[in-house]
Amino acid sequence: MFHRYHSPKENNSRTLVLLHGTGGDENDLLDVAAWIDPSAGILALRGDVVEQGQNRFFKRLAPGVFDQADLALRTNNLAAFLNDASIRYGFDLDKAILVGYSNGANIAASLLLQTGVSIGGAVLLHPMLPCQARQILDRPSIPVFMAASSNDPIAPFASAAALEQELRNIHHNVTMRVGASGHRLTMETIEAAKQWLHTQPYYPRIR
Ligand code: MLT
Repeated sequence: MFHRYHSPKENNSRTLVLLHGTGGDENDLLDVAAWIDPSAGILALRGDVVEQGQNRFFKRLAPGVFDQADLALRTNNLAAFLNDASIRYGFDLDKAILVGYSNGANIAASLLLQTGVSIGGAVLLHPMLPCQARQILDRPSIPVFMAASSNDPIAPFASAAALEQELRNIHHNVTMRVGASGHRLTMETIEAAKQWLHTQPYYPRIR
């Protein structure tokens, strides 16, 4: 997959994997990453699907209606890509945090629901329930921060709440934040994600 990689500063072993929303690219979430963990390594991806000139991580049939076969294929591709990238760049996938917004949050959610990938955690910003969970033996329990809005016209709250429940059903450890900013990513949400991130075991505490 097309991507850019920046090594971590200060020799730490943390990595943020950035997954943009529809119409974005690998640069979109760099400012968010710089805010939530300025010294982490960065693996910033660009979705492989182009829909009317807009990059996405998987195909859809209509707004909010996903091509499940394509989603499953691209989810597996993403899992394989992350594995390869961790070897190529020498980072620890177990300590990598997925940071996805909108369509990028949806493929990150799909990765948690459909694969047994072992990653450090996930920050899902305005996600939906993209698919049902698959039964997987020995799936690791992954810490997840979710941000949803009660008035999100693109990622309806009911779908985000269904995702929260589905993630809990398969024993992921979900922290949910509900705002009222529509589909917009606000500074309050990014700051809440940062606070959550720094409660993770291998993160320095914020004083
Ligand atoms: C999706 O297609 O993944 C969702 O509708 C969000 C978006 O439009 O990116």
